[in-house]
Amino acid sequence: MQKLSAVPHEEFNAPKGIQRVRQLPDPKLGALWDSIVLDDHLKAQLVSQAMLNFTMRGKVDRSVIPLHGVILLVGPPGTGKTSLARGLAHRTAESFPGAGFRLLEVEPHALTSSAMGKTQRAVSDLFSQSIAESAAAGPTIVLLDEVETLAADRSKMSLEANPIDIHRATDAVLVQLDALAEQHPNLLFLATSNFPQAVDAAFTSRCDLVMHIPLPDREACARILKDCLVGLGKTYPAIAKLPNGAGFERCAAECVGLDGRAIRKMVANALASSPQTAMNPERVTLDDLFVAARAAKSGRLPGGVAQ
Ligand SMILES: Nc1ncnc2c1ncn2[C@@H]1O[C@H](COP(=O)(O)OP(=O)(O)OP(=O)(O)O)[C@@H](O)[C@H]1O
Ligand SMILES: [Mg+2]
Repeated sequence: MQKLSAVPHEEFNAPKGIQRVRQLPDPKLGALWDSIVLDDHLKAQLVSQAMLNFTMRGKVDRSVIPLHGVILLVGPPGTGKTSLARGLAHRTAESFPGAGFRLLEVEPHALTSSAMGKTQRAVSDLFSQSIAESAAAGPTIVLLDEVETLAADRSKMSLEANPIDIHRATDAVLVQLDALAEQHPNLLFLATSNFPQAVDAAFTSRCDLVMHIPLPDREACARILKDCLVGLGKTYPAIAKLPNGAGFERCAAECVGLDGRAIRKMVANALASSPQTAMNPERVTLDDLFVAARAAKSGRLPGGVAQ
């Protein structure tokens, strides 16, 4: 049996609601950033907005530019939002060598509770204590993944379907964001959501940048597919040659409509297109990939449809 590696020490100390604390920069997150295919100018815009947060915010009065230090990434599931947010944290820290940046990853589900008033309390404690303490100690980036859980749209809530507690949790997030924005200019929240319509408008209004992360276009699909095949090629050298094959562009075109996660999973489906290929993945062909891409798009598993 493979031994599970020990949980890093810092995770034991992570306060409630914080899933993980990392020191930045972290080269693993840099690799993640590079692995996400996104228009270069969108990536540059993200890095620039994050940098500005740490260069200008502490120097210019909030009555001139009311920055809250929040960037929101919205888009369909599997388009790389969480990966981009983690990678962006690294890239930002890398721009300020020796500054001692830290990344706190919030686990919103750990804060929600069915007990009356508890979610609101947990949110307030997290922001006013844990996050504020970190920001007082040094530049801090906070990942708020699936932010609709914490900043749910209050206007869409019926009191039956959505307990008043969640309503109060959203209020608490907004109050805390305002307080932190006043006191800690060296704090940046990176939020993600695949349900932008479920995020409260007052939260969105506090965002300094809302960026839509789209499904990959044809060229991006080709780059993701190639990246995946070249990566597999490190283990199975024959697979690295597939992007040079005549049918590669046809496969890439067939991926249009899939998100980045689905493209990589589709490649795994192609490797599982027969027991022989599963035993020896180097047998996979561009035809297998094409069939798997087509099946992924129609929501079917390859070979799983009754004739
Ligand atoms: N644009 C992309 N380029 C390359 N790989 C991608 C891209 N988008 C997604 N992926 C792959 O999909 C995986 C999942 O991405 P990630 O979890 O960051 O997506 P997400 O947008 O946060 O999804 P969700 O909304 O479901 O949380 C990544 O590890 C990456 O391998
Ligand atoms: Mg995500």
